[in-house]
Amino acid sequence: MFETTERTRTPDYAQLELQLQSLLAGERNFVTNAAQFSAFIFQTLADLNWAGFYLAQDQTLLLGPFQGKVACVKIPFGRGVCGAAAQQRKTIVVADVHAFDGHIACDSASNSEIVLPVIVGERLLGVFDIDSPQLNRFSDADQLGLEKLVACFVAMTDVA
Ligand code: SME
Repeated sequence: MFETTERTRTPDYAQLELQLQSLLAGERNFVTNAAQFSAFIFQTLADLNWAGFYLAQDQTLLLGPFQGKVACVKIPFGRGVCGAAAQQRKTIVVADVHAFDGHIACDSASNSEIVLPVIVGERLLGVFDIDSPQLNRFSDADQLGLEKLVACFVAMTDVA
């Protein structure tokens, strides 16, 4: 199906987690840490064109801190990749966004995408969305590593 040999090499996620811990240490403010987390992901992972938060408000996702081009402000639960991840409360990896029914194209450069739910206890805080211009950019190892980084962000941040 896709050429996996051309896929971006998996970074050392254990090392990235240590870097993230020292980046977020000493401050637990949500907006501050969410902005830092977005920038950290955007600058440390190769071949990305967007990385950021959408925050749950009732049954809608509202654009939060991000890196990349301006994006859609509101996404209802159940719509697009972000809305599906929010509704199902699970990570969704899309190898080719053009083949995903209902994909919301914010940046025409995006070809693949991973959306991770951000959950604190029982509460869905929102999702963290990452887009890549590369088809099939996100492997199982990326999913696992990114889920750990999101969990680290949640553990080191206060939510209102
Ligand atoms: N593509 C997303 C919308 C958000 S932008 O990619 C930043 C989606 O289908 O939910």
